Amino acid sequence: MNPPFSFLNNTFLPAADAALNVNDLSIQRGYGIFDYFKTIAAKPVFLDDHLDRFYHSAAHMRLAVDYTRDELKAIIAELIQLNNIPDSGIRITLTGGNSTDSISPGRPNLIITQHPLAPPGRDCPPPVRLISYPHQRQLPGVKTIDYLMAIHLQPVVRDRGAFDVLYQKEGIITECPRCNFFIVTADGALVTPARNMLKGITRMKVLSLAADADIPVEQRDLHLDEARTAREVFITSTSRHLIPISHLDDFPIGAAATASPAPTPGPANPTPSPAAGPLTRKLNSLLYDLVNSKK
Ligand SMILES: Cc1ncc(COP(=O)(O)O)c(C=O)c1O
Repeated sequence: MNPPFSFLNNTFLPAADAALNVNDLSIQRGYGIFDYFKTIAAKPVFLDDHLDRFYHSAAHMRLAVDYTRDELKAIIAELIQLNNIPDSGIRITLTGGNSTDSISPGRPNLIITQHPLAPPGRDCPPPVRLISYPHQRQLPGVKTIDYLMAIHLQPVVRDRGAFDVLYQKEGIITECPRCNFFIVTADGALVTPARNMLKGITRMKVLSLAADADIPVEQRDLHLDEARTAREVFITSTSRHLIPISHLDDFPIGAAATASPAPTPGPANPTPSPAAGPLTRKLNSLLYDLVNSKK
């Protein structure tokens, strides 16, 4: 396959040639925002929701978007046609722009890139382990390009045999670096944090699917102690839909809690994979149907 095209400031060009000025504030200071959505069979999924969040993030960071929503949609459609990658992830990034003094924003640079992405299936992926970590993202309601702590902690995540970290502050859970967090309580309610995190598009869809299915939904503060004894735990994102959680720190969740004791986790002993809980599986399959009905 030819290397895909990217879009940079009004031009489609091979991704390898799409380069930013070294004075861009994204390079100098990590100042910028982005959004990320998938295409299935060459059709963008929940594009309007992602563009709503893109414009919201840009406005919050005082970055001007030189393109109307319709213009962005037309550019995205052209990129999809040019690249011919039917199942893909598309990232729209808006940077702080070229700065004369390394602190004042310039005219934002707009970059759109596309890469192949296997679409999530109707069945959940195998359950994974999370480790909690005390951290609060800056400007949590904005999809900034700052994933500093997430990247810094990758060796720790690997050493503990985990999928990712779970951010918490004083025991109150917010989110994972790239996913939102949910539990199912002993009486069957779906609970997810309400503040200090990014409002994921997948989170929004899962909440509305649950409400439509008459599943009680609560958006509120959620303490680690409550999550560790939850009946089910899962995380959500655009690229993976629902990912079931088997262990939160060293606490087994749901089916893992009733399975035989887990060996000490680590690269030599990957966590065994008990099945995802019933509500996690149901919501994942409802989301699959919703996403695939949009084709
Ligand atoms: C910080 C953060 N929280 C949550 C999410 C999940 O959002 P979405 O469902 O829109 O992919 C993401 C996505 O990358 C994220 O970066």
